[in-house]
Amino acid sequence: MADTRPIGMFDSGVGGLTVLKEFRKQNPQENIIYLGDTKSFPYGSKSKESIIELTKKGIDFLLEKNVKAIVIACGTATSQALEEVQKQYKIPIIGIIDSTVQYIKEQTKLRKVGIIATTGTIRSKGWQNKIHSQIPDAVLSYKACPLLAPMAEEGWTENEIAKLTIQEYLKGFYDIDCLILGCTHYPLFKKCIQEELGKKVEIINTGEKLAKDMQKILINEQKQNESTEEGNFEIYLTDTETNFLRVASKLLKDTEIKEKIKKADVE
Ligand code: DGL
Repeated sequence: MADTRPIGMFDSGVGGLTVLKEFRKQNPQENIIYLGDTKSFPYGSKSKESIIELTKKGIDFLLEKNVKAIVIACGTATSQALEEVQKQYKIPIIGIIDSTVQYIKEQTKLRKVGIIATTGTIRSKGWQNKIHSQIPDAVLSYKACPLLAPMAEEGWTENEIAKLTIQEYLKGFYDIDCLILGCTHYPLFKKCIQEELGKKVEIINTGEKLAKDMQKILINEQKQNESTEEGNFEIYLTDTETNFLRVASKLLKDTEIKEKIKKADVE
């Protein structure tokens, strides 16, 4: 049976839209409700306790919108809150780590693995522990890049400042096979990162890998939307006084995105 209810997606800001974009490419018929917790941005510098609390509030908001499954489209919330919320809620909830680790495991050429993410994500060791347990012969290099998510919210992803910042953060990452963009804001810097590391390093956008897994979950749980029409999406923000609109219109190449943005009251 077709399940036309929307999928809920959650991030602290504009970053999760990189996941939404990939998800829509692979699952165009699904409806989506996106929540950007812009009022509490950035998540990357907050404690694990705060991240769990904010993630639960986000999930409760999405559940009120009658979503059928939830994507934690945020590396910081995935690494620190996913386990906890998966225990507490019955609805399928997936984060950005597992699908990417599974992908790397299957690509036997990718063993020198770089990870860049927020300070909270790197501190939590969410990526490191998962990779060590799944791919024991992987050699990891990792770095927290706290300036990148705020720069992405500002729309500074391709200018000189972005180039210099990327250069500085990526020192020491030249001998790797792949680089995981462990924060969903970072695909916005993909061009700069690829230029810096060269073509032989595979840059991994976690949203691409997650989109396929979510599709499998929907099929297994018979929750797929079988409509032949393109699904729609709505965006809720906890604070609308941001650059979100500008960055989102550029990323999604959608000039009518303004009509899709609403203020969310998350208590
Ligand atoms: N997009 C987020 C992540 O994937 C959060 C960035 C932030 O709020 O600091 O980690």
